Amino acid sequence: MSNNSARIAVAYHSGYGHTAKQAEAVARGAVGVSGAEAKLVPLDELTDAVWAELDAADAIIFGAPTYMGSPSAVFKTFAEASAAVWADDLRWRDKIAAGFTNSKAMSGDKLNSLIDFSVLAAQHGMIWVGLDIYPGWSASTASIEDLNRLGSWLGAMAQSDSDLSAEQAPPATDLRTAEALGARVAKITLRHVRGAAEIASESDAA
Ligand SMILES: Cc1cc2nc3c(=O)[nH]c(=O)nc-3n(C[C@H](O)[C@H](O)[C@H](O)COP(=O)(O)O)c2cc1C
Repeated sequence: MSNNSARIAVAYHSGYGHTAKQAEAVARGAVGVSGAEAKLVPLDELTDAVWAELDAADAIIFGAPTYMGSPSAVFKTFAEASAAVWADDLRWRDKIAAGFTNSKAMSGDKLNSLIDFSVLAAQHGMIWVGLDIYPGWSASTASIEDLNRLGSWLGAMAQSDSDLSAEQAPPATDLRTAEALGARVAKITLRHVRGAAEIASESDAA
């Protein structure tokens, strides 16, 4: 990894494909930032390659559907398995972290999933990045097409109607919000990586 580029891993689970669309949008937003690269890392099978991808990343964006008010069990299995990383002297310390979730209800208690991701990041000594977009779709003149229509600060939310396939849901409005989260994480990660490189070169010169 070059000291001037930012490597973003989108670590996600999707049972039926809807959250996978959101994950793709997050990655698309990240790679739209010059100097950033993004990798989709599905968590269905926790192979050595998955852990290697996450270890190599400067930022990890966690994503899962909300099932029964919290991240899906597959994601929770990953979170518990990451205790081995935690035990290894906080191996993910100082990586940037963020999160996204999708569910069928407008609320569906999905804030709880974002809180779960942020606590996971904190336990790993990571640095959480939220969304910096005022809530959309929250005035009489507002539109469903507004960015952040579901009004979350902690991370990106999406909503998928339960009778629509992953080709049709979540809607474009939520995918744009996911892209915005990816872009923000990429920009912050670039700052973080480049700042760390500068500090290292200053201390080498001293
Ligand atoms: C076991 C299970 C539990 C669910 N629990 C919730 C929930 O708590 N809130 C909600 O709004 N939707 C809930 N849903 C709906 C899913 O979040 C929704 O269908 C989502 O689009 C699935 O994403 P995926 O295709 O990536 O798996 C649940 C679905 C399943 C299968």
